[in-house]
Amino acid sequence: MEECKNLGLTKGIGVSNFTCKNLEELLSIAKIPPAVNQVSKMAIAVELNPLWRQKKLREFCKEKGIHVTAYSPLGAFNTSWGDNRILECDVLEEIAKAKGKSTAQISLRWLYEQGVSMVAKSFNKERMKQNLEIFDWSLTQEESNKISQLPQTKGLNVASAFGPHDWLLDLDAEN
Ligand code: A2P
Repeated sequence: MEECKNLGLTKGIGVSNFTCKNLEELLSIAKIPPAVNQVSKMAIAVELNPLWRQKKLREFCKEKGIHVTAYSPLGAFNTSWGDNRILECDVLEEIAKAKGKSTAQISLRWLYEQGVSMVAKSFNKERMKQNLEIFDWSLTQEESNKISQLPQTKGLNVASAFGPHDWLLDLDAEN
């Protein structure tokens, strides 16, 4: 990928689902650091959303100048690997109701306020539009605090699903 960048074939190098440990290893040998780390609910449950906030990874990436993107930030609702714990989270629903927004919008706005970009998917035109309408309002400090205090829950505990391998235990421990 560095060769591609040097040849002008790509503008930047991105990695996917890298933990702090993975990034540390990469940065120790990379001549060109990655521009972005996209973390995805889908691949191996390195998800990023209001219920699995990955503070350590976000801070690490910020310090190293690596942008973070959340793929499937709404919990991949309605898929075989997804769940409803974000879109039906009581606290997020409560904040949404009080602000006249949807739970999805509260989740996406929270990510945006953390400096994270996101790839949220919808097959519904109205919901696609709704998901873009998060830039002209903000969460109050109190609302942000409520979200940062939500118990951290992961959709899929990878070590219990695939076995207690060291690197899977690392993934489950990172939050
Ligand atoms: P739909 O396609 O019927 O809108 P993720 O981005 O985490 O993979 O989540 C995608 C899921 O979230 C899809 O099931 C999608 O359903 C649903 N979804 C996307 N946007 C919204 C929204 N604003 N409100 C409710 N559900 C949403």
